[in-house]
Amino acid sequence: MSKIKPAPLPPDTAIGGYRVVRRLSSGGFGVVYLAIDAEGQQVAIKEYLPASLATRAPGELLPKVPPEKLSLYRLGLKSFFEEGRALAQISHASVVSVLNFFRENETVYMVMNYLEGATLQDFIITARDLKTQKVFRESTIRSLFDEVLRGLRIVHQHKMLHLDIKPANIFITDDNRAVMIDFGAAREVLSKEGNFIRPMYTPGFAAPEMYRRDSQMGPWTDIYAVGACIYACMQGFPPNEAPQRQEKDRLSLALNKLRGVYSDNLIEVVEWCMALDPLSRPQSVFALQKELSREGERRYTKLSVAEKMRMQLDTLVSDTKKNVQKVGEATGLGARPK
Ligand SMILES: Nc1ncnc2c1ncn2[C@@H]1O[C@H](COP(=O)(O)OP(=O)(O)O)[C@@H](O)[C@H]1O
Ligand SMILES: [Mg+2]
Repeated sequence: MSKIKPAPLPPDTAIGGYRVVRRLSSGGFGVVYLAIDAEGQQVAIKEYLPASLATRAPGELLPKVPPEKLSLYRLGLKSFFEEGRALAQISHASVVSVLNFFRENETVYMVMNYLEGATLQDFIITARDLKTQKVFRESTIRSLFDEVLRGLRIVHQHKMLHLDIKPANIFITDDNRAVMIDFGAAREVLSKEGNFIRPMYTPGFAAPEMYRRDSQMGPWTDIYAVGACIYACMQGFPPNEAPQRQEKDRLSLALNKLRGVYSDNLIEVVEWCMALDPLSRPQSVFALQKELSREGERRYTKLSVAEKMRMQLDTLVSDTKKNVQKVGEATGLGARPK
């Protein structure tokens, strides 16, 4: 994989009737620009430019693709185009709007409405740094994910899966709307070739079936990621990776520590969404929406002081064991817990 990211188009470049204002972000699959249309309206434009397949020197318009990567590049391009077209049919406040789609510079551009605000990831980091007892209030989490799920339901109705739901792909606008972005076009096709597997999933948010080639993905795969996002909103950091959980699952332990802070019902929702077995999760967004909207039935387990201490002790013991093991592995002495 090339280490240098392709150079973004410089400000003032004209593409498909739009004018680039500046780059907003460079990711593994391409570059997102702030641009303006002929009427002076702001738009966001995503350019297909996978860093592992193409390079572009500063000041150039056309990406350079080595001959051996050309077929994969074209396959990804086609998929980016197809998925963009599918996304363009969806009109929902919680799904980023695709306004236009065009080919130029031997690549493809997706024009979206420009969102002002910050990603949920930015909010989580800010809230976590404030070190309050709760990262987000329960009512905030419920209404936020109610919005996300409304959008996701429509996406699934259009026979699409998002497959990379995570706080960095949920945008919170300045007027307080939650909008799903980054429908990671091209992800699925490219992953089949093997060498593109890495950007396909995000540790902690990717369901176990995304790590296996033989298993079926479906709405339950996005639902796992939604559960992981709710978890991140409660804890301030992502849950353990699915393969790690399959070895030793600490999810319930981690969630138990949040009892009393968040309702038992919300904790159960997260556990349900994040079941390792896809069949044990909500099978549709609708099923999850129903559960998440059961506001009236909030129960809180109040932990006694003794229980809280017991939990802290458990963490201490398990952390100590882990450290002993790490030292053992690092020194080649093996673990010798007393
Ligand atoms: N429609 C948009 N409006 C404003 N900013 C956007 C928009 N789409 C993407 N961005 C910005 O670009 C970043 C990357 O976009 P994303 O679609 O997640 O691509 P990737 O993660 O594949 O690079 C986002 O985190 C966000 O900051
Ligand atoms: Mg993204």
